[in-house]
Amino acid sequence: MATLDLYVQFKVEIQTMSIYTMEEVRANNGQNGRPVWMIIKGKVYNVSEFIFKHPGGGVLLLEYAGKDATKAFNQAGHSADAMKDLLKYEIGTVEVSKTEDISKIKSNKEKKKVKLFFCF
Ligand code: HEM
Repeated sequence: MATLDLYVQFKVEIQTMSIYTMEEVRANNGQNGRPVWMIIKGKVYNVSEFIFKHPGGGVLLLEYAGKDATKAFNQAGHSADAMKDLLKYEIGTVEVSKTEDISKIKSNKEKKKVKLFFCF
């Protein structure tokens, strides 16, 4: 019989992700003691602490506080390591119907495409 002295501890971490509205993201713009959130590819990131660590500088990140930084993030040509870094700051996704981007899209066909994109 195996000894009872042996204990195996399983640690199960359940990560809960939330869905935020565009208004919530916009409110968390680093001003008046608020955290710094930003959207990249439909996901919401809390980069409040990362501001002081970002190799591209904190000022650049603050420009996108409370905003969608997808284009800027892609254009900066980030490495695979930077993509991995993203995971550390992810707090949820943005509610599609409330995003500014979708309201700008005129045709229903395009709206459907965007909704499908955010489903996955
Ligand atoms: C949470 C979001 C972000 C993460 C995790 C991140 C991460 C990183 C990392 C790890 C680097 C070092 C180079 C590399 O590995 O690619 C970097 C560089 C850089 N990032 Fe970001 N970044 C973020 C957002 C942004 C945004 C929104 C901009 C907007 C313009 C930006 C602009 C830059 C630039 C210009 C550099 C190059 C700095 C240099 O080579 O001197 N980053 N970023």
